[in-house]
This record gives sequence, C-alpha cells and structure tokens, in this order.
Amino acid sequence: MTQYPLDMSIKPEVQAFFDEATNTISYIVKDPTSKSCAVIDSVMDIDYAAGRITYDHADELIRQIKAQGLKLEWIIETHVHADHLSAAPYIQQELGGKIGIGSKIMVVQDTFGKVFNEGTEFQRDGSQFDRLFEDGDTYKVGNMQAFAMYTPGHTPACMVHVMGNAAFVGDTLFMPDGGSARCDFPGGSAEELYESIMKVLALPDEMRLFMCHDYGPNGRDIAWETTVADEKEHNIHVGRGKTKDDFIKFRTERDSQLAMPKLIIPSLQVNMRAGEVPKDKDGNPVLKVPVNGL
Ligand SMILES: [Fe+2]
Repeated sequence: MTQYPLDMSIKPEVQAFFDEATNTISYIVKDPTSKSCAVIDSVMDIDYAAGRITYDHADELIRQIKAQGLKLEWIIETHVHADHLSAAPYIQQELGGKIGIGSKIMVVQDTFGKVFNEGTEFQRDGSQFDRLFEDGDTYKVGNMQAFAMYTPGHTPACMVHVMGNAAFVGDTLFMPDGGSARCDFPGGSAEELYESIMKVLALPDEMRLFMCHDYGPNGRDIAWETTVADEKEHNIHVGRGKTKDDFIKFRTERDSQLAMPKLIIPSLQVNMRAGEVPKDKDGNPVLKVPVNGL
C-alpha cells in the first residue's frame, strides 16, 4: 500500500463554483500561508448544437483569482471528464500554472485516439499536459504539500487530489445521497471503483471531501462538501452495511440503463488534449462525431 503524506493540520481555503449547465463543481484552493492557489476541474462552456464555445465559467474563476491577488500554480484535472469540457489552457494562458492529470491519461488517449480515428499528430503520451501524476506523487501549492492518489474505476486515469484536510474526489464518490459515478466507460470497472472508494474512505474521518458533480437528488439543494465519516456512514452505494458484491451488482445493473452524457463526444476530444480543441488541416477548431463509434 502506498504511504500518503497526510497533514490534517493544513486547512486550505476552498472556493466552489457550480456550473449549472453540466452540474460540475470547479474549485479554487488556496494555501493558508501564502497567496498561492490551485484550480481543480475547470469548465469551458459549449453550446453543442451551435458548435459555439465561450468562457463565462472560466472567466469567473480568473476574475476571482485576480481580485484576490492569488498566484495560480496548478490547474488539476481529476480525470478525463466525459460530461464537460476543461478550460485548463484558457486559464493557463491568462494566469500561468501547470496543467496536471494522472499518468494513465495515456490509456485514455490510446482508447479514444482509436474511437475518433485521430492521426499520428495526436500524441498518446500525455505530452499535452505539464505533469503526469503517479500514485502518491507530491507537489506544492505555495507552502502546502499536495498529493495524488490513484483511484481508477470510473475511468482508468482518475486521481483524487489531497491538499491538507481537503480531498478533491473527482468522480469516485458523490454526496452520500448520490452514491457513486458510473463505471461503464471504456476502461471503467465497478470492482476497481469499489477498491478506489475504499482508499478514499481510509483517509481520516474528518477529511473534507469535495465532489466534482452534484445533481441534487430528490429535490435537495445542490451540495458539494462532505467528510469521510459522513460517506462511511451514509453513502447509499458504499456506506455502512454495503458489501463489495452488492456494489458491483448494483453498479453494473444501473450502468446498463444509463444514457450517454450529452457532451461526451466533444468532451473526450477536448479533454484528452488537456482542454485544447482539435484543429482541421487548415488549423480551424473542429469537432468530430464518429457514427456508432462509442
Ligand atoms: Fe467523470
């Protein structure tokens, strides 16, 4: 088992930005002892029907970082999202910082490089990103040490990022009444997700957990923050009394009923390129729709 460098005495300031169009939560995470910060899981706006990309959500993050006089050091993707487009390069161009993702991005690039019939100019070595994280890798946000935990299952490249007493869980877990994310995308695995969730729930009980998505089940207000203790006690898919076999059976049956996310086709093409929109031979940004390819 990887030994993770936990330090619960560090309490980063976390600001959340909810994107109504995709139910994604983006975060600005500030080191409590400096002006340094990181952005987790940014969103680029798309009107897919019109083929139009805009940056209102990312502009709000940029505006906040500038207004607070913060220095952006990292732009983290917890995984290759299938339901929204990353704005990482747009934010990097404005504010600097390094774009990081799990090293298994190469597996995702290989899989979807084939689905989208990308040419040899599409590198499948993760080189579009500034940093590829392995399990247990550490990095600094100002004086605050952060680390990545490898948590596959939803996708092969998923990582949870931990900064002090805050963990950004990506799509490993949802709020307790939301359960967990689907595991039926290529390279996904309900068994692996269960093991990954157990790794997250082995963090200290008082660890703050920040979700990547929330859908406000049963009409409750949108929420994004909980704790390990709360998930262990109340998560409807993995909480107290649920076994691994229960989880795998439930997850597999549920996933077989789910429709594809509305933005999966543009999301994958952009996110596997670290947020860059692909270009045609004349250099114009363009997205493909492979027919019966997914
Ligand atoms: Fe996801």
